[in-house]
Amino acid sequence: MRPSDLQSFPAGFRWGVATAAYQIEGATTEGGRGVSIWDTFARTPGLVRNGETADIADDHYHRWQSDLDLMASLGIKHYRMSLAWPRLQPTGTGELNREGLAFYRELLTGMRDRGITPLVTLYHWDLPQTLEDAGGWANRETAHRFAEYASRVVSELGFLATDWITINEPWCVSFLGYERGAQAPGKKDTRLAVAAAHHTNLAHGLALAAIRMIDPNLRVSNSNLVTDLVPATDSPEDAAAVLRLDAMNNRIFLDPVYTGEYSAAVHELFDEFGLRDVVHEGDLELIGRPVDYVGLNHYQRIVVSADESAGYLGLTERPAEPATTSFGWSVVPDSLRSVLARVKRDYSDLPIYVTENGASYNDYADPNGEVNDPERVEFFSGYLAAAAAAIREGVNLQGYYAWSFLDNFEWAEGYSKRFGLVYVDYPTQVRTPKQSAYWYRQLIADHEAATAEAAASN
Ligand code: FCB
Repeated sequence: MRPSDLQSFPAGFRWGVATAAYQIEGATTEGGRGVSIWDTFARTPGLVRNGETADIADDHYHRWQSDLDLMASLGIKHYRMSLAWPRLQPTGTGELNREGLAFYRELLTGMRDRGITPLVTLYHWDLPQTLEDAGGWANRETAHRFAEYASRVVSELGFLATDWITINEPWCVSFLGYERGAQAPGKKDTRLAVAAAHHTNLAHGLALAAIRMIDPNLRVSNSNLVTDLVPATDSPEDAAAVLRLDAMNNRIFLDPVYTGEYSAAVHELFDEFGLRDVVHEGDLELIGRPVDYVGLNHYQRIVVSADESAGYLGLTERPAEPATTSFGWSVVPDSLRSVLARVKRDYSDLPIYVTENGASYNDYADPNGEVNDPERVEFFSGYLAAAAAAIREGVNLQGYYAWSFLDNFEWAEGYSKRFGLVYVDYPTQVRTPKQSAYWYRQLIADHEAATAEAAASN
C-alpha cells in the first residue's frame, strides 16, 4: 500500500479485528452453556477435519482479559466479536442465563476499560441444538426465537455497545448448512436451504424491529458474505451462469435487505424449491426496513463456467488465480474493490464496514519464537490498497475488521487453517503476534498521524 492509499481512508476510519464466539471461546460445557449445532456437528465423526472440536479452541472464555490486553497493546481500537446464543439462552427460548450474561457484561466492560469499541454479532452460527431439533432455520419459528433472543440480549447489554450485527453470513448458514452439508447442521436439501435463507432474512428483520423498539439510537445491520463472480469466458452461457450463482450467493440475501424484495433472478432459481411458499405477507416489508450501515464480508473471487449437467445451477466454480492461501482461496485484491463498488452501485450508499477479510497460511514459530507471515502482510496490503481505490471511486467505506485477531477453530477445517494476526500454539495456548500484527499496528499509527497532520493543516 502506498502512502497515498493510506490518505484515502477518512479520519476516524475503524481499523479493527474480528472473531466469533464458537471459534475462540472453548468452555463449551461451562457457565450453564447449552449445546449448539456446532457442538453436535463437531462431535459427529467424519464431519470436522481430524475429528477436532471447539471444546477448548483458544480458551478465550478463561483468557479474555489477557487477550484484550494483547489487543490493546497492538493498537487495535475496534473489535467485532460475537455472542454465543447457547451461552445466553441455553435452549433458545425464555429467560437469559445469568452466568452467560455476566461473562459478556464483563467482556464488553473490559473492552470499554481498554478503549476498544465493540461491534457485536448476535448470531455467528451457534444455534441452540434444541431449536435445530425443531427444524432449525428451515422452521419459521426459529426466526421468532432469534428475535426474542436479540431483544432480551439488547435489553441487557445494549448500554455497552452501540453497533450490532444481527446475523453473520446467512449464505453460509443456509446453503453450507442445509444444502451442501459442509457446515452445521449438515443437511443436504435445497428446499430446506431456501427456507433457511428466507428465515435468516426474516430473523434479521424481526430482530431489527425489536432492537429499534428498545433503543432507536443503536446502529444495526447484518453481515453478508459478498463473493466476486466472474465468467470463465465471454460466452453468453457463462454470463448467464454468473447471474444464477449471483442470485444464490449474493442476491437472495442482499436484495430483500436493501431493496425490500426478491428479484426475478432469485425467484427464477428458487421458486421450484419453495421460495414463494415460505414468504408470508409482510415479511419483505420487515426485512427491508432501513439498516444503519452495510456489513460486508469478503474472501473470494470465483470463476464460473456454464455446465448444463451440473445440478439446478448448471455451472461449475473454481477459485480465481492465484489461489495461494492454505484454503486454496484466491488472492486477487481487486475483488474487494469490485464488491464494494457493486454494493454501492446496486444497493446502498450507507457507510460500509468490511466486517471480515483475511487469509489463511501455514504459519509457524521459527526457532527464535517469531512468526513471520510476509504473505499475509502482502495480502492485507493489497486488499487495503484495493479498498482505498474503492474509496476514491466514491464508496463510503468507514471501517475494516481483519479476520482474524487470533488463529482459531475454522469450522469444518478444524485448527488446520490459521487466519490470525496472532499465532496461537494450541497445546500451550501461548499467543505470539505475527509480523502481520506489527504491520497492522504500524498502519493504524501511520493513518492516525496522517489524519492528525491533515486536520492541523486545515
Ligand atoms: C467466514 C466466517 C468466519 C471465518 C471466515 C474464514 O465465512 O464468517 O467465521 O470462518 O469465513
